Amino acid sequence: MRMLITGGAGFIGSEFVRQAVRKGHQVAVVDKLTYAGDLERLSEVRKDITFYKADISNQEFIEHIFEKEDPEVVVHFAAESHVDRSLLDPYPFISSNVLGTQVLLEVSKAKGVELFVNMSTDEVYGDLGKEGSFTEDSPLKPNSPYSTTKASADMLGRAYHRSFGLPVITIRASNNYGPWQYPEKFVPVIILKALRDEKIPVYGDGTNVREWLYVTDCAEGIMAAIDRGNAGEIYNIGSKEEKQNIEVVKAILKLLGKGEELIEFVKDRPGHDFRYSLDSVKAKRELGWEAKTSFDEGIKKTVEWYVEHLRWAQDKVAYLNDYWKRVYVRQ
Ligand SMILES: NC(=O)c1ccc[n+]([C@@H]2O[C@H](COP(=O)([O-])OP(=O)(O)OC[C@H]3O[C@@H](n4cnc5c(N)ncnc54)[C@H](O)[C@@H]3O)[C@@H](O)[C@H]2O)c1
Repeated sequence: MRMLITGGAGFIGSEFVRQAVRKGHQVAVVDKLTYAGDLERLSEVRKDITFYKADISNQEFIEHIFEKEDPEVVVHFAAESHVDRSLLDPYPFISSNVLGTQVLLEVSKAKGVELFVNMSTDEVYGDLGKEGSFTEDSPLKPNSPYSTTKASADMLGRAYHRSFGLPVITIRASNNYGPWQYPEKFVPVIILKALRDEKIPVYGDGTNVREWLYVTDCAEGIMAAIDRGNAGEIYNIGSKEEKQNIEVVKAILKLLGKGEELIEFVKDRPGHDFRYSLDSVKAKRELGWEAKTSFDEGIKKTVEWYVEHLRWAQDKVAYLNDYWKRVYVRQ
């Protein structure tokens, strides 16, 4: 299959690209290479893919790429993806996540692509109390600028399916973790700070709950949706591995042989969602997919990967030091 993958130099996109190449698909990647994008993630498959450095909101360039590649399937990962950054400056999120998605849908419609897969998040549903899970029919109640732009992209996908018949599948995944995640995200922040014996910032009292999905499982879920999903449908993909933030920190400290005195509670993130939980029964029933990696197994593999790839991560940490001063404020 000819696949055009946006955001393929990012964390989840690059895992998906590796899997797609292994399965024999013909892959072209479009990525702007923002601070979060890195071609090193694709070094293993670089010779097997065509790469375009492009902004998805640049319609003229996107049309040119579609002309050249004539994709059958578009798999859309490209986005500004970090909630904290959306609180500091929402504008790039509107441009990439809303306008960029609109451009891709419009060009896909004009070129008659066979399938458009829109990568979305559990955060579009808002948050939950201690009980219950979101189904694909739950109302959208996004709480951050990031999740609002993702919900907007979902609605545009819905509109292009309903109004123009574009075959759009929406994937709503829970929190991913694993190798190659940019070290501003929760899991790599903990690992890298612990390795340097630095204080580990934990928002609020650390009881917020996330559902942790290993990135390999996530990419397999998206592939299952391409192989067996139906146009116009939404699929939740989660792991059922719900953990409080503080539990994640303690698990990582234990794996690294570090003490809990490194934990430092910091002022809570504004509008911080308390709990996300996905009901992924539909993905199991219709796609035959469920997450295979337990949290214990996935977090161990992730910690080992960062220890082995310290150089890659440390280069980024130098850049992040200033940013951390802005987002993590002592209580
Ligand atoms: N990481 C998670 O836990 C998670 C969970 C659910 C959904 N998602 C969604 O999955 C997708 C991928 O997330 P990720 O964690 O891999 O993000 P990431 O930040 O690691 O990667 C995003 C990639 O998109 C590229 N990009 C950003 N703006 C662009 C633009 N305007 N034009 C072209 N390329 C652009 C970046 O250069 C980067 O390579 C996003 O849509 C995100 O919203 C992420």
